[in-house]
Amino acid sequence: MTVREAPSVDGLVIGILGGTGDQGRGLALRFARAGHPVIIGSRSEDRCKIAASQIGHGVQGLANRDAAREASVVIAAVPYEGHAELLSSLAPELVGKIVVDCVNPLGFDQNGAYPLPVPEGSAAEQAAMLLPDSRVVAAFHHVSAVLLLDPEVETIDLDVLVLGENRAATDLVQALAAQIPGMRGIYAGRLRNCGQVEALTANLVSINRRYKAHAGLRITDI
Ligand SMILES: NC(=O)c1ccc[n+]([C@@H]2O[C@H](COP(=O)([O-])OP(=O)(O)OC[C@H]3O[C@@H](n4cnc5c(N)ncnc54)[C@H](OP(=O)(O)O)[C@@H]3O)[C@@H](O)[C@H]2O)c1
Repeated sequence: MTVREAPSVDGLVIGILGGTGDQGRGLALRFARAGHPVIIGSRSEDRCKIAASQIGHGVQGLANRDAAREASVVIAAVPYEGHAELLSSLAPELVGKIVVDCVNPLGFDQNGAYPLPVPEGSAAEQAAMLLPDSRVVAAFHHVSAVLLLDPEVETIDLDVLVLGENRAATDLVQALAAQIPGMRGIYAGRLRNCGQVEALTANLVSINRRYKAHAGLRITDI
């Protein structure tokens, strides 16, 4: 088997849409700690500036549109409810960029979490349809924001499933995942197989509730 060399991600500017939320702030902290310039985006200039100063490590806060424009790789970390509207409004700023989608379309009721039906098949496929001139990669669905945000947690032991249509883009996102100590990025297929990856998060929520954990996945034999 030929082992491909991981692409360099040195100095990549990472923008995070919805970066004021738990997942966005957590990823921002980890990528900033790994030495990346990070811009968190928001619908509100005040919220992103406050969140950025709380994260520290040089993280900047800008409006979502400016974060999308200034970054070379853009992570979408908004709730599914706002996903389609936000991405379609930012399509011009995202042309030619890698857009990493970590959105889990989930509902919650008295029995816990369950996957919501998505007409396009998955949130990531929805993103790919709305952003035909970007390279959409799905990743970071199973990473706990609680662990990402805890500054005392040095390593986060899990595999990040990375899905997409473009090999160079999935290789790059795998390399980005590996910037966070303990994580590996594992290629897990095309976007048409992302529905079950997003839905599996509902199982992880159940595991976390039963075992009082922040569970992640490990893929064996790789
Ligand atoms: N939390 C986790 O552990 C975790 C793990 C893996 C994946 N995820 C996924 O990551 C995404 C973000 O999760 P989260 O827990 O950080 O969510 P969140 O806190 O509910 O939302 C993140 C940010 O999105 C913005 N936002 C909220 N509603 C919006 C809308 N309708 N349109 C545009 N922006 C909106 C808000 O920022 P502003 O008000 O500042 O604009 C908010 O701070 C979700 O899709 C989730 O499934 C979460």
